[in-house]
Amino acid sequence: MGYRDVYDSWKADPEAFWMQAAQAIDWFRPPSRALFDENAPIYEWFSDGLVNTCWNAVDRHVEAGRGDQIAIYHDSPITHATKGITYADLQTRVATLAGALRARGIEKGDRVIIYMPMIPQAIEAMLACARLGAIHSVVFGGFAANELAVRIDDAQPKAIIAASAGLEPGRVVHYKPLLDQAIELATHKPEFCVIFQREEEVAKLIEGRDFNWYGFQYGIKPVDCVPVEGNHPAYILYTSGTTGQPKGVVRPTAGHLVALAWSMENIYRIGPGDRFWAASDVGWVVGHSYICYGPLIVGAQTVVFEGKPIGTPHAGVFWRTIQNNRIKSFFTAPTAIRAIRREDPDGEYIRRYKLHDLQALFLAGERADPETIKWAQEHLGVPVIDHWWQTETGWAIAANPLGIEELPVKLGSPTVPMPGYDVQVLDEGGHPVPAGTLGAIAIKLPLPPGTLSTLWNAEERYRKSYLSHFPGYYETGDAGYIDEDGYLYIMARTDDVINVAGHRLSTGAMEDVLARHPDVAECAVIGIADPLKGQAPLGFLCLKKGSATTPEQVVRDVVRMVRDDIGPVAAFKQAIVVDRLPKTRSGKILRATMTRIADGEEYKTPATIDDPAVLEEITAALRNLGRG
Ligand code: COA
Ligand code: AMP
Repeated sequence: MGYRDVYDSWKADPEAFWMQAAQAIDWFRPPSRALFDENAPIYEWFSDGLVNTCWNAVDRHVEAGRGDQIAIYHDSPITHATKGITYADLQTRVATLAGALRARGIEKGDRVIIYMPMIPQAIEAMLACARLGAIHSVVFGGFAANELAVRIDDAQPKAIIAASAGLEPGRVVHYKPLLDQAIELATHKPEFCVIFQREEEVAKLIEGRDFNWYGFQYGIKPVDCVPVEGNHPAYILYTSGTTGQPKGVVRPTAGHLVALAWSMENIYRIGPGDRFWAASDVGWVVGHSYICYGPLIVGAQTVVFEGKPIGTPHAGVFWRTIQNNRIKSFFTAPTAIRAIRREDPDGEYIRRYKLHDLQALFLAGERADPETIKWAQEHLGVPVIDHWWQTETGWAIAANPLGIEELPVKLGSPTVPMPGYDVQVLDEGGHPVPAGTLGAIAIKLPLPPGTLSTLWNAEERYRKSYLSHFPGYYETGDAGYIDEDGYLYIMARTDDVINVAGHRLSTGAMEDVLARHPDVAECAVIGIADPLKGQAPLGFLCLKKGSATTPEQVVRDVVRMVRDDIGPVAAFKQAIVVDRLPKTRSGKILRATMTRIADGEEYKTPATIDDPAVLEEITAALRNLGRG
């Protein structure tokens, strides 16, 4: 069957399609049906099944006699350590850690925050939670203590599992002091913390609250997998929204298992024993779906890579890792390829390594620009597949399904909708627009298995953010169009989320920080085009009259404040002081127009503008910065 047949078969009978896909999963009790729509527009999948994620990702492969195969390969070009962990090893480690967590009172439904760098223990911690039916929430290491505190207060974890340190090129990230500070800041206090002490930095533990990873597990008996209902949350993952308060995306267990298994086979063409690598971080959705769960659920080998595309030690490290691990499908963000290309424009490093096993390069996280795709196609000689998805969906909305059929690539398009996703482009009134017309991209409800069911502790916010604007649809927050052949094009966000180096960030959250500076009267943050990172944040500041601080000092202050409050990952390095911000007559700041000016694009002065002269002032300020 080709893509069209598969997509049509889903559309003709979604229930049969997903019940068939569910056969890839081991159930303690099979579900009686796929879709549970009693609470529409809140939908659930496989709710009356009983299942365990860790069983499907680990134990069943050992049972099947594949315990000696490598499950996780850890490669750290920063510490120069490499290590393979077999499925049998992984089972012992995870079952013991789960036993130790249970001995301290962690049970099904309890939340556990995981704050760890790219080490196998991060995956083990996720799986140990899954084994018990505890709900994990992994927090990315590039966030500051305050962001961690916000997540602690929202998720209310009983325990936090962390490492003493993370390693960035030339810099140790002191996780433990950040953790201590976050717990101090948070209103909710975890009962205990488990700290994995790294050789590079041994952290001071707080007596009675903190336990050393190994000591904590000493003498503990491994425990079995706990069956959970299909709709039981597997994890919460926070992502940026339009306000400073992150959204806790809830991922139900059974749909997650079924969708990831389907995607591994049909999108990435990966099965048992194959080797797969997603070069992302466990703190992002890509890390959840395709470093941890997806590859392990299908019994493939995954790679936990602690390094960067360049500088650890050179622009060939990705190709070396692909060669040494005989990787079949590789997944990264376009920004990583742009970074490599900048250092190695002729692809000399690519030729140094044998990439015989590589069948495809998958790109996601931001728009894949045609030049980057062409460069990778030319030098790697394999299909380069852009695919589009979000933290909320957990797996690709649109892709080129290599495991079904390799469709012709159209540069700039993540190809076609996957089964389960009825993607429509709508006008402001919610009516589908003709092919080739730009509009808001929405997905007809229900969303497929594997997508979010709600936001943690915030069902009203879920309805308001995603379901209310276009009744009957899920609003993606992306704008774009579908061409005559049904190919999708993702062009921009419709909200103030920006995408910096494949990381999703909220300009609203940055504005909240800027506004706290005592000399700032008003501010705005926009995302401007950046040749390496896709977008970069740029702040505009209006200072209070009579402020004694120099504008240069205020700029330095706010750059430091964003780094301290949100974290280095915000990559907020630039701000300019202006007299006024352009606004509509009703007082709305014209951020989109400012972005067009900064990117040197044509723009129309909005009819609703209060004072058109302000746009000229902004243009002049941006010119001083070398933009516009
Ligand atoms: N822990 C702590 N700090 C982190 C971090 C982590 N896990 N990840 C990134 N940071 C820090 C970086 O050290 C950097 O700090 P600095 O301001 O002191 O230099 C800052 O956050 C910004 O990081 P980043 O945006 O990644 O930029 P960079 O200049 O360090 O590297 C690239 C540029 C292109 C090499 C890098 O962005 C990259 O590898 N991108 C791929 C992104 C990716 O895989 N995204 C996942 C989406 S699928
Ligand atoms: P995140 O939730 O961090 O994965 O970010 C999701 C957002 O990143 C999407 O809503 C898009 O705006 C953007 N994005 C992800 N993948 C792509 C892609 N392949 N093409 C264009 N934009 C993308």
